[in-house]
Order: sequence, then C-alpha cells, then structure tokens
Amino acid sequence: MPQITIDGRPCDYDGEKKPTILQVALDNGIEVPHYCYHDGLSIAASCRICLAEVAQPNPRNDGELELIPKLLPTCQTPAVEGSEVYTQSPKAIGNQKAVMELLLINHPLDCPVCDQAGECSLQDYSYKYGRGESRFEENKIKQPKKDLGPNVLLYSDRCIMCTRCQRFTDEVTGTGEIGIFGRGSSEQIDVFPGKPLDNELSGNVIDICPVGALLDKDFLMTMRVWNLQSTPSIDGITASGDNLWLEHNDETIRRVKPRTNLDVNNWWTSDEIRYGWKFVHSPDRLTTPSIKGEGQLGSRQDVNWNDGLSAAITSLREVTDQYGSGSLAVVVSPMLACEEAYLLAKAVVALDKNATLAVGPVPTNGEDKTFPGGYTIYAEKAPNARGVRRALEQISDEVLSFDELIDNAGQVSGLVLTGNYPSDWATPAIVTFIESRFTVLLDTLPGPAYDAADVVLPSCTWAEKAGTFENVNNRLQGFEQAIAAKEFSRAEGQIALDLIHVATGEARQVYEPMTLHAEMGDAFATDILQPASPREAVSEVQYVQL
Ligand code: SF4
Ligand code: FES
Repeated sequence: MPQITIDGRPCDYDGEKKPTILQVALDNGIEVPHYCYHDGLSIAASCRICLAEVAQPNPRNDGELELIPKLLPTCQTPAVEGSEVYTQSPKAIGNQKAVMELLLINHPLDCPVCDQAGECSLQDYSYKYGRGESRFEENKIKQPKKDLGPNVLLYSDRCIMCTRCQRFTDEVTGTGEIGIFGRGSSEQIDVFPGKPLDNELSGNVIDICPVGALLDKDFLMTMRVWNLQSTPSIDGITASGDNLWLEHNDETIRRVKPRTNLDVNNWWTSDEIRYGWKFVHSPDRLTTPSIKGEGQLGSRQDVNWNDGLSAAITSLREVTDQYGSGSLAVVVSPMLACEEAYLLAKAVVALDKNATLAVGPVPTNGEDKTFPGGYTIYAEKAPNARGVRRALEQISDEVLSFDELIDNAGQVSGLVLTGNYPSDWATPAIVTFIESRFTVLLDTLPGPAYDAADVVLPSCTWAEKAGTFENVNNRLQGFEQAIAAKEFSRAEGQIALDLIHVATGEARQVYEPMTLHAEMGDAFATDILQPASPREAVSEVQYVQL
C-alpha cells in the first residue's frame, strides 16, 4: 500500500482512489484545518487554510525528495507516494494564522448569540490556529441578513466565502439557486432575484456551512448545541433508510441531521425527513388506553392499561369462540419496526393459530426523484413495508397486502390494527372495515380510525423506541431509542408482549429488540446493520481550557 508521511507520521492510502493529501490525513486521523473542502463537493481550494509544506520525490533526480518552494493546498494536491508533508512547520503555521486573521477581520464577534457556537469551524480553528488577538482597529464591514427560502436564513457578515453552499446547489441538487455576487470585501452569497432557495434538499446547506452564516429557521435560537444529545437513528417517515442523528434534550427532539453513510444517503437528507418529525410532539398524541363508550356515537372512555389489555384479549377470545379458528387478523403498519411486527403476529397467533397476517397500507406520493448528486427522494412514505412483510413471513407463509385483506375480509371478525402514520391515514373504506368487526387499534394520533375502534392502545413513534427498518433497497438497519415514550404510551413491541402476557399468563417481558433477532430468522440474526457509534448519546463539544 502506498504511503506518505504527514508531520512525521507514516500514512497509508489506497492508491487506486488517488486521494489528495488532505483526504489521506483525515483518513489517518490527522487534523488539517479546512473550510472550503467537503467530501461531497468538488474542490475549490479557495479558503487556503489547509496549505502545507510538501517535499515530493523528483523522478528527474533519481527520486530525491525535493521541498516545493511554495505552500500547497492539501485539499487539491494529490498524494504522491514517498512525499513528506509538514502542516506544523513555521511557514504552514504562519499561513494558518494569517488566514484566520484575514477571515476574522470582518467577522462579527457574536458567538454568544450565534446558533453555530459550539459546532463552528471558525470558532474551533480560532482557538487552535488563530492569533488569539486582533490587530484590526478599523470598523468592520456590516452585511445584511437575508431570507433565502422557506428553511434557511443567511447572516451575510458571518460568511467566510467558502462557496460550499453554492457548489451544493450546483452539483448536488442541480438547482443552482445560490450564487456569489460582488467582488472583494463586498463579495456576498445570495440567491438570484425571484428564485428562493426552495429545493427539496435545501436544509443540507445549513449542515455544510462551516460557520453560522446559513441558519435553520426551524432551530433558530432554540437551543445551545452543547446541551443536545445525539442518538443514531434511521429515517422513520419514508422508505429511504437515510441514516440520521436525532438531536434532543429534555425528552424533546430539537433537530434532525443526516448521519454520513456512503452506502445510503452520503452526507445528505431531504427536508421532508429533516423537518418531518414534528408529529412526535403533537399535543394530540394518544397517551391513554380507551374503549368505545356505549350510547352516544363516537364517545370513548379512558381506562388504565390493565383494563385496556384485558378488554382487548377478552373480546378477541369471544370472537374466536363465536366464529372459530381463522376469524382473527393482524394488520401491521409499515411504520413499525420488524421486531414489533414479529411480536404482534406472535400475540395474535397465540389467540388464533390460523389468524390472517397482513401488511398495513403503504402510503406513496408521486414518483421517486433522483438529484444530480445521486440523492433520491422515494415516493414510498413508510420506512419498513419490506421489513414488516419479512418479519411476518417468519410466522406464516401467507402474508397479505392490505388490499388483499380487504378483498378477502369475509372471514375476519376480529382485528388487531396498527397505525403510527404521521398524519390521517384511515380512508372511509378503512373506517367501514373497522366498524364492521371488533377492532383493537394501536395508534399514536386520533382520527377516524380512533373514533371507530373498539379498544385503542396508545403507541410510540419511532423516536421513542428501538428496532430495525428495512429500506427500499432491502437494507436492514437498526435504530436506537432517542427519547422516552410520551406519557402512558408504549411501543407496539411492548404492547404485543403485554398482550401475550395477558393472553397466556406467561411472565411479562420487556421489549428489547436485540434479544429477538436470533429467533426471527437468518436475515435478522446476521444482516442487521447497527450504527457504528457508541450507544451512549454524548455531547460532542470539547471544552477548551482557557
Ligand atoms: S454561507 Fe456558509 S457555506 Fe456559504 S459560502 Fe458562506 S460560509 Fe460558505
Ligand atoms: S480546504 Fe484547502 S483551500 Fe480550502
């Protein structure tokens, strides 16, 4: 394997990939400061902070190492086997300090009120590579704040003109909304007149901006980032399987960011996924079990969990006693985890061994859309239709789609139905289906299905539990629990175990998805990809001793 030396440390690299010096350094855990370079964008080499002294073998001089007289941008210079790179030489350090001094000349000292504080490259590099004091005595140039689009604000005077955002809209979305206007100290990032930053991936420019110039309207002034915990998760809204960080504190999600996975979503996620989690904290969330009241249409009576579970089991038993084997069905929503589908099927089969198993309605919207940078927004708006089917097939050879169930519903007299969709999902046909048989509904939000069901057990969103989703490309990925279940709601996996406990009298078990994989079949035992991060969610901010 070819090798270069960076600051005295030998660094291997894959010669086939022809990496730059900066890529070799980062891959080998060596920090070289960089602003304009981003793994997912073309190389601009404009910020100049990554410059280093490089000695390369000269083939015209028997391969003798020769020091190149000028500093080279490590982000743009290919690694040449046998080179020696010095990022800590007096000349390289002098450049770092000069770049930092120039960048800070007009940069406002507003870190205390800037959302980026704590995760700002300019702030971090000031400590590590800056001068520590300013020699600038003139007035700083003030630039305006601008509303770039529905999700993004621009604080122009914090911009360091790295051009990442402009390259993103050119190369990844292909929409080209962001341009560079003006020259010299008047140079500014802006959108073109009448063309706001309004593409489906616009929120990613906030992540890639190395300073606090591009800010998230949704997160603006909400929280200091060092108070957030990050939990590795998976897209729980669409079939993308995008790897995410759910960032939260006080049992509340504050923002969602993409988690880099070069096999799935690269560095990006869509605005639909980034901002689609609000239903988790809807004030309308169902939190208490209830049973249909007698008398007035639509009246419901709240009950405790013991009474709710007993009412469900007693009535499902009555259905099987009256209509015989094969009269129960379970419909598992594609919003649920594989482990939950498996347990729900087990719970219903414990009551009726010939029960029908079906996958719930799979919502879609439009067609798949792939952007020039390779990111795809999928039409399928559920995270786990394939995984639910795969899990149910471990219990029965025949698993129906929801439409097949409706078409063959004649023998179904008792139903365990799951929802957990972010918005209204029960069509009039589904409501009629519920009303014409005894139905136990596990759901998160009220709606027509809630009004029609006989027993409702409140369940959890994906952020409040752990499990596995199988995405549109059949990739099984684990996700972790970020926040506690809302009030008295329970994960569908826990509700299934509680139903088994009440139905069979076996000891009550706690829902632990990892303990189920061995019995769920070969794919679940071996193919689930778990986040490579530590399970413990910790703040990533390093405190600097002043
Ligand atoms: S707004 Fe941010 S990403 Fe865009 S050029 Fe300025 S510093 Fe770079
Ligand atoms: S990171 Fe190399 S010049 Fe900007």
